[in-house]
Amino acid sequence: MKAALDRNRPASASPLAERLWATRRLTLDLAAPLSDADATIQPFPDASPAKWHLAHTSWFFETFVLRDHLFGYTPFDERFAFLFNSYYEAEGPRHARPRRGMLSRPSLDEVRSYRAHVDEALDRALSSLAPAALELIELGINHEQQHQELFLTDILATFAENPLEPAYGELAPPACFAVEPVSWHRGRGGIVEIGAPDDGFAFDAERPRHRVFLAAHQLANRRVTNREWREFMDDGGYRTPALWLSDGWAWAQQEGIAAPLYWREDGTEFTLAGRREIDAAAPVAHISFYEADAFARWAGARLPTEAEWEDFAASADPCLGNQLDLGGAVAPRAGGGLFGDVWEWTQSAFASYPGFAPAEGAVGEYNGKFMSGQLVLKGASCATPRGHSRPSYRNFFPPAARWQFTGVRLAQDA
Ligand SMILES: [Fe+2]
Repeated sequence: MKAALDRNRPASASPLAERLWATRRLTLDLAAPLSDADATIQPFPDASPAKWHLAHTSWFFETFVLRDHLFGYTPFDERFAFLFNSYYEAEGPRHARPRRGMLSRPSLDEVRSYRAHVDEALDRALSSLAPAALELIELGINHEQQHQELFLTDILATFAENPLEPAYGELAPPACFAVEPVSWHRGRGGIVEIGAPDDGFAFDAERPRHRVFLAAHQLANRRVTNREWREFMDDGGYRTPALWLSDGWAWAQQEGIAAPLYWREDGTEFTLAGRREIDAAAPVAHISFYEADAFARWAGARLPTEAEWEDFAASADPCLGNQLDLGGAVAPRAGGGLFGDVWEWTQSAFASYPGFAPAEGAVGEYNGKFMSGQLVLKGASCATPRGHSRPSYRNFFPPAARWQFTGVRLAQDA
């Protein structure tokens, strides 16, 4: 194993360096069960091959830290900038996203060598990097953690395509089972503050912290369960247009949507551990915003707003607190709750906060340019790396997306 990934690094390494190497190592650990073929498949255009995630997260450090801040750095392969730039217009042209699954070369082993090359250069550079570059290391760690979650959801989508139903790893039980019946937590009304404080790491879109007004409302103490989702289905929820937003109904008809993404007709669902019985008490997962919204209307409730959720997270739900503390627990580690904890759809558009300022430089493209047609999700999922999330965290996806671990918590006006 490379020196930069030595598990016995000296205790004098900085906390930032410790987290960098732990993050880089975890990505390799996640890839360990995969063959080169597993890691090359792109199950649909919005998902990426595992191999691409491994390379792109290295490209991020190579480009924004090593190229710009390490004098004399030699890229591993000049051509990789075209292959592994995701969406940064300031970094020039790039390979088309829907074609990522066409990259049988470089091989998985070559991508591992690329990672090692970047890690060795980072190790050389760390002690002399300027504060601005260290901030980019922090961003790169958080960026790679986001890709670790995508890695798992994309592998789930990949294996779900295979009639052999391969298993990626074992599943631990959900961290939070349902408490019956649901109870309601009265949220704070009036003016509250949301958003990340000025100190500590947060993505640019979480700032600035600012005041919002909350009308009287209440939030469910837990997420909607699989059993409740089955009731919605049995009651014709997917066949009742009055429950649906117009765009959602059109989407559901066009795509033939009639159940959560990985449910099968025999009462099982496909998971990272292969096909399993659906656990009635676990939170429903792999639903779109459209489905979450229709369910809420069927239940006589609504989706929470981002501000209601965030203010709630500061005060209530030991299960929620546990989830935020754990931030989920990335796969194949034992005891981690691989299935059952989900991101929670809100009704809030992913838009800028008052006074929003994108990060400086090319990384200013990280969040701000996606503030159109996407909804905010709060919390964390079973696939979120430990410690990655926080109450101000703003995950976002288009309303029809459902290959992430997405679920729903209900809200009501009070
Ligand atoms: Fe990325």
